[in-house]
Amino acid sequence: MISTGRNAALAGRPEGLEQLRSLLDTALRALGDAALKRGGPVAPGGPEAAVAAVHEALGGGRLLADEPSAQRVTELFEAYARWAVDLTHPSAVARMQCAPTAASAAAELLAAALNQSLHAWESGPFALELERRLVRELASWVGFGAQAGGTLTPGGSISNLMGLLFSRERALKDTGAVSATGLAGRPVRPRILASAAAHFSVARAAGFLGLGRSAVVKVPVDDRGRMLTGEARRIVEGFDADEVPVAVVATAGTTDHGSFDPLPELADLAAEYGIWLHVDAAYGIGALFSPRLAPLLDGLGRADSVAFDLHKFGWTPASSSVLVVRDRTHMECLDEQAVYLNPSDDESLGFTALLGTSLQTTRRSDAFKMAATLLTVGREGMGDWVDACHEQARYAAGRIAAADGLELVADPLLTTVIFRCAGADGTPAADESALNAAVRRKLMADGRALLARTNVAGPDGTPRVHLKLVFLNPTTTEADIDALLRDVSAAARELAGR
Ligand SMILES: Cc1ncc(COP(=O)(O)O)c(C=O)c1O
Repeated sequence: MISTGRNAALAGRPEGLEQLRSLLDTALRALGDAALKRGGPVAPGGPEAAVAAVHEALGGGRLLADEPSAQRVTELFEAYARWAVDLTHPSAVARMQCAPTAASAAAELLAAALNQSLHAWESGPFALELERRLVRELASWVGFGAQAGGTLTPGGSISNLMGLLFSRERALKDTGAVSATGLAGRPVRPRILASAAAHFSVARAAGFLGLGRSAVVKVPVDDRGRMLTGEARRIVEGFDADEVPVAVVATAGTTDHGSFDPLPELADLAAEYGIWLHVDAAYGIGALFSPRLAPLLDGLGRADSVAFDLHKFGWTPASSSVLVVRDRTHMECLDEQAVYLNPSDDESLGFTALLGTSLQTTRRSDAFKMAATLLTVGREGMGDWVDACHEQARYAAGRIAAADGLELVADPLLTTVIFRCAGADGTPAADESALNAAVRRKLMADGRALLARTNVAGPDGTPRVHLKLVFLNPTTTEADIDALLRDVSAAARELAGR
């Protein structure tokens, strides 16, 4: 029986630990039952059923209830598990959202129970030191040396924002620190170069940083979404006198094709013009673990900042994102001496925290779960897992290329596969797009498969809806992929009335 009394309700107290153990038992049982009952990557029924499920789980009542009820917590657990997307299901191939290792999930539970923070020494001394150690190691992965710094962040979008923040500070420092005096009145037009295939968070970051989304100059790409360095050079050389190049943003692992911008060439260009090179390796970092794929990241160590996510390709729960910089002095704009958190006399005696590396104040310990995955899987294991996902993508591409009614766009570079269901001969492009969009929605609503979608330009340049598979589950088999593709083809035939 779960007590709602004061002593037993707090996770860290002895009575609370008993309660935690009992709730955990319930939760684990709910996870197991849900997986058996679901039979697919998500419960069937689509959006309406999800709305009804939440309503039912809460009994139509308020969350801040007049009568606390441990029973309702248990019911909520069960419903949450029943309705969770099963990231270990081989047909869950929509998002860059990996299934975490059991070790990282256990660490996450412990982190929540202990609720350490990184903004003051007394909020979590071990957690602080663990993050420092991990960040040093992560910086060495990308080839940075002893001068490097960095932080863990809530996601790739925020890691990109931080890289661009530091680039802004450096590029405009001749007219004063922007973080101190703002952008108003500066006689310059800042510019960020990013490929047309860069993640949207780059333009959004430019907006947040006061540079404006219009500061981002889209560099053309080749047919696989790789930035054309010659075009980037042409753009830089054509800037007017008041246009200041703030950063070149290279993507290592684009969201759709998993393409890698030519890092060595872009590093040369950035060095020649003294421009900050930020690499968005949010997804592509996986290549680093695989001796076979690692050459895709050659030149990474010449960047000024690198963003990458282990919650995409690193089998840890979100958030597990990283921003590392080659020279930590560029992070100085985050320095903060708050009398209530890090007084200088405490700091001089070693009672330091990580307030000055982050955009956040209270900040959870993401290093803990990341360490748990790295320790249990190991370097070789991570490489094997990445290679397994790469092989799955290649296998799926081969099957799609050979299938009637499916059209592969290109061989996979990393672990994404883009294709479409073809309409009958002569089907207008718009109808074929509608068919692909409908196939995806049908598979989601039926609870059979979760696929992503994107647009790829047709021969006349008009965008057409395509489907995308994202392989991040090393346990998926060839038979699983065959079954998934059979489901896609069957849905397309049904919807096209064939
Ligand atoms: C290349 C790239 N960068 C950044 C992001 C954003 O990452 P997050 O969702 O962790 O903010 C994504 C997300 O898919 C991405 O594909």
